[in-house]
Amino acid sequence: MTATSLDQIISLCKRRGFVFPGSEIYGGLQGIYDYGPLGVELKNNLIAEWWRANVYERDDMEGLDAAILMNRLVWKYSGHEETFNDPLVDCRTCKSRWRADHIHGRCPNCGSTDLTEPRPFNMMFSTQVGPVADSGALAYLRPETAQGIFVNFANVLATTSRKLPFGIAQVGKAFRNEINPRNFLFRVREFEQMEIEYFVMPGTDEAWHQQWLEERLRWWDSVGVPRERITVYDVPPDELAHYSKRTYDLMYQYPDLGPQEIEGIANRTDYDLGSHSKDQASLNLTARVTPNADSTARLTYFDPERRHHVVPYVIEPSAGVGRGVLAVLCEAYAEEMTRALPAEKLQAVTDALTAFLKSVGRSEKLHPEARDAMLAYGEAIGNHLPERLPEVEPLLAMPGAETIELGKKLRGQAQPLIDEHFRTVLRLRPRLAPVKVAVFPLKRNHDAMVETARRIRRQLQLELGARTVYDDTGAIGKLYRRQDEIGTPWCITVDFDTLGEGKEPTLTDTVTVRDRDSMAQERVPIADLPLYLREKLR
Ligand code: GAP
Repeated sequence: MTATSLDQIISLCKRRGFVFPGSEIYGGLQGIYDYGPLGVELKNNLIAEWWRANVYERDDMEGLDAAILMNRLVWKYSGHEETFNDPLVDCRTCKSRWRADHIHGRCPNCGSTDLTEPRPFNMMFSTQVGPVADSGALAYLRPETAQGIFVNFANVLATTSRKLPFGIAQVGKAFRNEINPRNFLFRVREFEQMEIEYFVMPGTDEAWHQQWLEERLRWWDSVGVPRERITVYDVPPDELAHYSKRTYDLMYQYPDLGPQEIEGIANRTDYDLGSHSKDQASLNLTARVTPNADSTARLTYFDPERRHHVVPYVIEPSAGVGRGVLAVLCEAYAEEMTRALPAEKLQAVTDALTAFLKSVGRSEKLHPEARDAMLAYGEAIGNHLPERLPEVEPLLAMPGAETIELGKKLRGQAQPLIDEHFRTVLRLRPRLAPVKVAVFPLKRNHDAMVETARRIRRQLQLELGARTVYDDTGAIGKLYRRQDEIGTPWCITVDFDTLGEGKEPTLTDTVTVRDRDSMAQERVPIADLPLYLREKLR
């Protein structure tokens, strides 16, 4: 099972500290999010997997970390000053602003069709460098990390002596003043990109483009976003970015949003290196570039076999970190029944749901659209009980549900059953899990047990170089559920046997390790834990 609605993920992220709205205590800032204690671990783990697969596990890649602020001329010659625009329209009725290609001629706020003609809106954030605000100080926050790679091409080549084909990988922040940021992490104004610029001999570009498409689909699969949930969109010529000869967009099936781009893989030809080069006329460029009188470098590669300079073609796999985190969470999310429900309790909750929906149908306080949505959702849940019982919570959180008195009765019937018979579990790949291991003492008022559990947690965090947590704030069953919800693959319990105070002396210095997915438990010597867990994390 995967998430059935984005709200499930948004609510989990907020509740458990994966992602918070930016500047929340001041009312937030649209399109800006902060990653909390669990979110930063998950995001860093996703980036680490990308770096590992693309830099450490290949022989043809270098890394780079270029600055966010760059000389304005970079954005002049990259084409962004002139073409990095979205079509903006104003609604004359309610004065809201929209991206023309997202709204089909009707204002989503008030429904009016009285809209202005679309006009280009440049999405780069501008700022000034230095204390004097004249035009010479103008700079932009980079809208893609890619340009940092292109302008460093000659530096990397000179310092590494690479031969074609080779790539440069970079992860970093990018900024876009999106007209309508929306859908949580999906469309934001500040985000991170994981980009590769892969330099190849002209003529080999199309074959490399296909290879990178396969490679990237394989990687998403390896981090838990299966191939069958991604469709490849071969971007038609009239939709291509100004630099692209051909682009494949990987479209992940996000809940509620449908297929949306998680990564673009573009054939950028010799456009970028050519654009940033001097002496363009001598370079036999195939791309149409703006004449460059400012560059001090010729961004070429000396082909030792043919003994001449060529401008390499570029294949660019460019993925969004936030969109990746969101997809990984959606795929990993499951609400599942851990124990069968007794028939009479199920009947009671079915009756309470029926009564609630009848009351919704009769309510005059509800907006008709809200009423219909609630009825449709409630009936869908009712048709799939008991599996969809946990969805009673989002049903009761729908707009207007609080005005239905019988909602309280439904919650009263459903909540204890959800707590006892269901769990939310994030089936994250262990390497992505924000917390690898949680350690509990069976009794929190037993000093030796607490001390042993704390010691194991500390040691494992150092040995694994990854986050571990200690928790003693509830019964073991509740602690397991709390860890399942954030995707912790293993929970360790220290008990009387561990301390040699139980009935089984052979279990001294061993602990129970419980597996998140199978919920199976096994006894492992404390001394073997690092190796045992490292093996599983491989
Ligand atoms: N260098 C090429 C480039 O930037 P892009 O298709 O504009 O291409 C690449 O962006 C990726 O960056 C997208 O596939 C998406 O994952 C991510 N991305 C772009 N705009 C975004 C936004 N406003 N919010 C979140 N992610 C975004």
